[in-house]
Amino acid sequence: MMVWSRFTDLLLGRKPRPQPIVALDVPQRPSRMRAATSRLPRFKGEASDLERPLRGRDGPVDQQRTRLQRAFTPSQPVSDVRMFAGRREILLSLIRAIEDQQLHAVVFGDRGIGKTSLLHVFAQLAREARYIVRYTSCTERSEFDATFRAIAADVPLLYHADFDPTSEPAERGAALDTLLPERELTVATLTEVFAKLSGTRLLIILDEFDRATSPEFKRSVAELIKSLSDRSIRVQIVIAGVAANLTELVEHIPSIRRNILGLPMPAMTREEMAEMIALGEAIGQMSFEPGALDDIVAAAQGSPYVTGLLAQHAAARALDREARDVAREDVTEAIRRAMRDVWVRLSPRSQQQVETVEARLPMPEIGRIAADGLAHFGVILDPADATSQFDPAVRVAAELGILRPTVVGDRKAHQFADDSVALYLWLASRVGGRASA
Ligand SMILES: Nc1ncnc2c1ncn2[C@@H]1O[C@H](COP(=O)(O)OP(=O)(O)OP(=O)(O)O)[C@@H](O)[C@H]1O
Ligand SMILES: [Mg+2]
Repeated sequence: MMVWSRFTDLLLGRKPRPQPIVALDVPQRPSRMRAATSRLPRFKGEASDLERPLRGRDGPVDQQRTRLQRAFTPSQPVSDVRMFAGRREILLSLIRAIEDQQLHAVVFGDRGIGKTSLLHVFAQLAREARYIVRYTSCTERSEFDATFRAIAADVPLLYHADFDPTSEPAERGAALDTLLPERELTVATLTEVFAKLSGTRLLIILDEFDRATSPEFKRSVAELIKSLSDRSIRVQIVIAGVAANLTELVEHIPSIRRNILGLPMPAMTREEMAEMIALGEAIGQMSFEPGALDDIVAAAQGSPYVTGLLAQHAAARALDREARDVAREDVTEAIRRAMRDVWVRLSPRSQQQVETVEARLPMPEIGRIAADGLAHFGVILDPADATSQFDPAVRVAAELGILRPTVVGDRKAHQFADDSVALYLWLASRVGGRASA
């Protein structure tokens, strides 16, 4: 069967795109193998469950489990707008910054606060508005040359003012990267190429910007923002990353301060977390009892990651007992399960510190400092005036090495040496102690 796109590829002399695989010859698993594994724990569903629509012949529990896997995905950013809760204000500010003010934008906030989810939804809205959107996740090794060549490779030449859409290279599907010199890419050369964009606008999203370690990369991106702004070029950059403030994320901010909008990503409100759960309820076809919802919201402290994690564990627990209503006891067990998830990620040293602090301080005190840390990027400020009494719980945690001294601006403070310790201790305080039961 010749698919239309393949036909046009051939007609236009384009290299055919890889074809979707229609049928796969997957060998059936021999029943001997099944027998051999019969003594072992089994997967509850099949890998294809997550990809395919529900099947009539699935049992109700299997169907339910499949739905649930789609309802809350704490380990992945939201990619489907139907799953996106709240965040209307920051989304609107981002759209206004790009569309009305023609600024570049920097979204910053804590880990797991929902930056990537926001950017995915924003990208989708921008594509609907006919922007060319190029999303890139930065890595430790991100460099200017490779990053921006790859971006240019996704912008069709037909948007370059010097190329008629019917010209041979444009027809061939060539992209802007073909115009870049072989020598190391500079901000000036890239700006020249971008300056010729016409008939569209290009949005470049650089997520996880905090992970990039090269100062030259960060400096070049700042320079690029400056030079794009100075010449009103149709390319805008949106940067996102983990940071407490703008300057921490982007170097050389003073020179581009007027050209960017900084958007701090706040904790979710109660309503936003409730909306997240309501969306999951609809997709998962489960319902959360009001008390259960309150418990999740209280434990999540505005973090969509923790909201999703607890909702997922709680709904799975309800399903284990073949119930459709998630009860408060499911949430308590979910908190314990989440604690176990976090525990295994702690270093042996952190695990030992946690055990010691639990023995030395009352749980509510531990919960108090953990909540303080979670709300402020792991930082707890010392008393402003040196004569006031030092928080005894902070002192103990510092002695144990859970907190270490730091400085914020000109204020002395203490910071959790490991973010996950703060989360673990906070969750522990919600259920009155260890999860090892
Ligand atoms: N607006 C939202 N609606 C529903 N779920 C959300 C929303 N925002 C975030 N989440 C959920 O919260 C979790 C964390 O979100 P996300 O990965 O977007 O955060 P992040 O800030 O990019 O995290 P990181 O700092 O680790 O990159 C994901 O499971 C995602 O599904
Ligand atoms: Mg992210």
